Amino acid sequence: MYLSRFLSIHALWVTVSSVMQPYPLVWGHYDLCKTQIYTEEGKVWDYMACQPESTDMTKYLKVKLDPPDITCGDPPETFCAMGNPYMCNNECDASTPELAHPPELMFDFEGRHPSTFWQSATWKEYPKPLQVNITLSWSKTIELTDNIVITFESGRPDQMILEKSLDYGRTWQPYQYYATDCLDAFHMDPKSVKDLSQHTVLEIICTEEYSTGYTTNSKIIHFEIKDRFAFFAGPRLRNMASLYGQLDTTKKLRDFFTVTDLRIRLLRPAVGEIFVDELHLARYFYAISDIKVRGRCKCNLHATVCVYDNSKLTCECEHNTTGPDCGKCKKNYQGRPWSPGSYLPIPKGTANTCIPSISSIGNPPKFNRIWPNISSLEVSNPKQANVCDNELLHCQNGGTCHNNVRCLCPAAYTGILCEKLRCEEAGSCGSDSGQGAPPHGSPALLLLTTLLGTASPLVF
Ligand SMILES: *[C@@H]1O[C@H](CO)[C@@H](O)[C@H](O)[C@H]1NC(C)=O
Ligand SMILES: *[C@@H]1O[C@H](CO)[C@@H](O)[C@H](O)[C@H]1NC(C)=O
Ligand SMILES: *[C@@H]1O[C@H](CO)[C@@H](O)[C@H](O)[C@H]1NC(C)=O
Repeated sequence: MYLSRFLSIHALWVTVSSVMQPYPLVWGHYDLCKTQIYTEEGKVWDYMACQPESTDMTKYLKVKLDPPDITCGDPPETFCAMGNPYMCNNECDASTPELAHPPELMFDFEGRHPSTFWQSATWKEYPKPLQVNITLSWSKTIELTDNIVITFESGRPDQMILEKSLDYGRTWQPYQYYATDCLDAFHMDPKSVKDLSQHTVLEIICTEEYSTGYTTNSKIIHFEIKDRFAFFAGPRLRNMASLYGQLDTTKKLRDFFTVTDLRIRLLRPAVGEIFVDELHLARYFYAISDIKVRGRCKCNLHATVCVYDNSKLTCECEHNTTGPDCGKCKKNYQGRPWSPGSYLPIPKGTANTCIPSISSIGNPPKFNRIWPNISSLEVSNPKQANVCDNELLHCQNGGTCHNNVRCLCPAAYTGILCEKLRCEEAGSCGSDSGQGAPPHGSPALLLLTTLLGTASPLVF
């Protein structure tokens, strides 16, 4: 995997149909930018919001360490076995492949035993802090779709900060603090993501969950993307529709999951005891065997293909947009201001295509979006049309999925997924919530009602 970066081979990922993925976190359905439909005027293109598939982003990053000479083995040195200060004859030697621990071993294939890992020099200069920055750069905006997972080979650090940049490394913001003692290390009260809510989901927290250090068997640190998604999509992320809708209407939320770079700041290695054992400083170092980052190129819902060419990721823009993120209209297509595609209405969204500049053509063409009738959808694109009973979307409140394309709702309900009360739409529900009151408890359902209905969006 790591090698392919250096060979600079042309990698490309694309989905052409709504094939269901084995893991739960597919944002699904926005996998076609256009489709041919039949109307009274014959075959025409229908344009839709679209995005690349979520993928393993560690294949496309560049890694940089600070200080640059912090990797162990140059000159060769010995270190103590994990948790055993009396076995200090392990060797790190950068010039011997079997004894070297270069940074690329954080991104190679795991599953081999023993696992391969990057390792820092030991804390010989104690009490000067042993600090390392590991910076991962994509030179492209990407949207995270799954937890960031860092697996340590050493004890998990006593203090660490995960940072992100949204402007290619010019400015950095903390993403999450990790410490055995948050108050002591960062003057922050310890919190876990589970303590957050829809309204506080953007809060930057310090967690003690992953720093119990030297003695525990667990070696993993998470940055919890899925738990944050779950505030909108429900505990098993079944209601992705409501997450899409919220992302659509809340730029801050969208930006929270968007990065161009990540930085792992290792501030203090696992010590485990109150005092550092100065006689055995070769016990203390950092070692990481794996880093997982899943996400997708941010293409503003104007592309399904992201090309990796010449060590660079670029969206292959549709809808007459252009730029690395499809962030502007093509020349001669500036008939109205550029705008990102929209996830709404669910499930196909709105393409917000760029339209020809008035000056570049004789007559302004018709730009009305053509809404296909249901039967033409069924005829032209049966795969695309499975919109009401799949991994992500389900008819609600007892609705049944008719021909895979629409929910047939019980009399009291309406909406694409029967998520809305008919009387709510008509504004005639009243307050006599006695008989006929809906099972209205689920927050995700309430939120969906909010999105598709009339109530105001969440404020952060
Ligand atoms: C790591 O990066 C931070 C900024 O994000 C900087 O202040 C710090 O000095 C860097 N540390 C090292 C060891 O380079
Ligand atoms: C974009 O422009 C091309 C001509 O250059 C046209 O054929 C195509 O239909 C346009 N697409 C959209 C989405 O407007
Ligand atoms: C829907 O589209 C099909 C196929 O083009 C057409 O035969 C049918 O008459 C259309 N129905 C309506 C209600 O427009």
